[in-house]
Amino acid sequence: MDRRQQEQAIINVIRLLGTSLKNRRMYPPTHPLVRTPVEKCFSDIFLFFAQRQELALAISDGTLVFEGVPIFNLTSSLELFMERLAAIGIPAIVFEKGLAPGDIELFIRFLHETKEEGLSPSDIQKRIEDLGVAHIRVKPPEEDDYALAREIYHDAVNVVVSVLKEIRLGRIPSGSESVRVVNAISGMLNQNRDAILALTLIKNFDEYTYNHSVNVAVLSLAMADALSLSREEKSEVGVAGLLHDVGKTQLALDLIRKPDGLTPAEFEEIKKHPEEGFVILGKMSHIRPTSAYMVREHHVRFDRKGYPDLGPDYAVQPKSQIISVADCYDALTTMRSYQNAKQPIEALEIMRKLTGKSLDPNILATLNNVMGSYPIGTMVRLDSMEVGIVIGVGLSGKGPIRIAILVDRQGNPLPCSEEVDLTDVDPRTGRPRWSILSTVNPLLYPDAPKGVFLPPPSS
Ligand SMILES: [Fe+2]
Repeated sequence: MDRRQQEQAIINVIRLLGTSLKNRRMYPPTHPLVRTPVEKCFSDIFLFFAQRQELALAISDGTLVFEGVPIFNLTSSLELFMERLAAIGIPAIVFEKGLAPGDIELFIRFLHETKEEGLSPSDIQKRIEDLGVAHIRVKPPEEDDYALAREIYHDAVNVVVSVLKEIRLGRIPSGSESVRVVNAISGMLNQNRDAILALTLIKNFDEYTYNHSVNVAVLSLAMADALSLSREEKSEVGVAGLLHDVGKTQLALDLIRKPDGLTPAEFEEIKKHPEEGFVILGKMSHIRPTSAYMVREHHVRFDRKGYPDLGPDYAVQPKSQIISVADCYDALTTMRSYQNAKQPIEALEIMRKLTGKSLDPNILATLNNVMGSYPIGTMVRLDSMEVGIVIGVGLSGKGPIRIAILVDRQGNPLPCSEEVDLTDVDPRTGRPRWSILSTVNPLLYPDAPKGVFLPPPSS
C-alpha cells in the first residue's frame, strides 16, 4: 500500500470504529449494526499486517497522526470518535499483529461503557486488559520527541536531496513527498516545538543547501503557527520554505558556492533563481500555486525593492515575507566560509535594522515571539559559571528555558552535555538553581561539544 492508500484505509478504520461506537449506544453488542463495522474495520487493519507488526495511531491536538504525519481530511463524525478517545485520555492506540475482531468489539465496549475522562494511559491499559482485549495497546505519549523530531528532520533533508537531484537531471519531481514532510514538521511543531526547532541549529557547511532548506521550512512553519494560519496555508508556507531555492539548480554550481563577493554579472545570474523556482514549482504535482508565488517572491523586499522586479501593479503574497524572514535568520546564524555565524540574538538585532526596508516588521515581531528572549541556539553563561546552549524555550518562547551545559565552571568542555531546566528550584534555598548571567560568543569555545543533542550527519 502506498501512503495515500494507507491514509484512506486508516480513515476507513476510524470511520467504522466511530459507526460501531455510535450504534452501540442504541443496539446490543451482537446487533449487525454494531458487529458488521467491526468486522470490516478488522479487514482494513489486517491489510497493514502484511508489511508491519503493528499499526500505531496517535491523537495529537485532536488530530489523527500516523507515522508522525497528521491526517487532516477527517469528517465531523470521525472527529467525534477522536474526541471520545481524547476525552477518555487515549494518546495513541496500537493494533498488534494477532488482532481478532473480538479485541475490537471489546475495545468498543470499553469506549462505550467508560464514563470517566482524563484517565492515565496505564489505567486505560489495565482496564482494557481486564476486559480481555489482547492485541490493542494504549501507548503513552511519545517519550523521546527528540528522536522523532530527528527522524522527521532527516526525512525532510532526504526529500530535498532527492528533489534537487531530480531537477538537476532535467526531470520534474512530484511534490507529494515535499507536502508529506512539511505536514510531518507541522505535526512535530504541535507535539513538541522545541524538539524540532532545536534541529534548526544544524549548520553543516557541506550540506548547507539541504539543511538550510529544511531550516527555512521549520522556521516558516513555526511563524505560520504563531500567526494562526489555517492548515492549508501552513502547508503552503512550509512547502515554499522547503523549496524556496530550487531555482538555484539552474545556476552553475561554482557560482552558488562562490565564497567571495559576486561580480555584477554573477549577481544578475543569481537573481534569476526565484523566477526559475517559480517555473519549476508550477510544473510539480501536488504543489499549490500560492507556494510557487511565495518562491518567486522570497527576495522581493518589504519596500518592493529586491528581485525579481515584478512591476508596481503586481500584488505580492503577504505570506512571502515569512519565507524571507526565515531565510534571512537561518543565513545569518549559519557559519559560512565568508562570514562568522551570528548568535541568534545578534541576528534578530541585525534584522530589526532591516525592518521597513527589506523585512516586514510584523513578521519579524512574530519570529521574535517564536524565539523568546533567549532563542534556541543561544550560547549562555549561567550564574554557576558553566556555559551551555539554549535547547528549549517552551511554547511561544515563554516556557521553561532548558540549557545543555557544554563547558564546566573551570572552562573544560564536558565529554557529554548535561541538561538543566531554569525552573528547577534548589530545595535548600527555595530559589532557582540556575539563572542566565549573559550570552557568550560561541567562537570563544571552539572545543565545546557540538554533537551532543544534534542528530548524526545525514548519510
Ligand atoms: Fe533565494
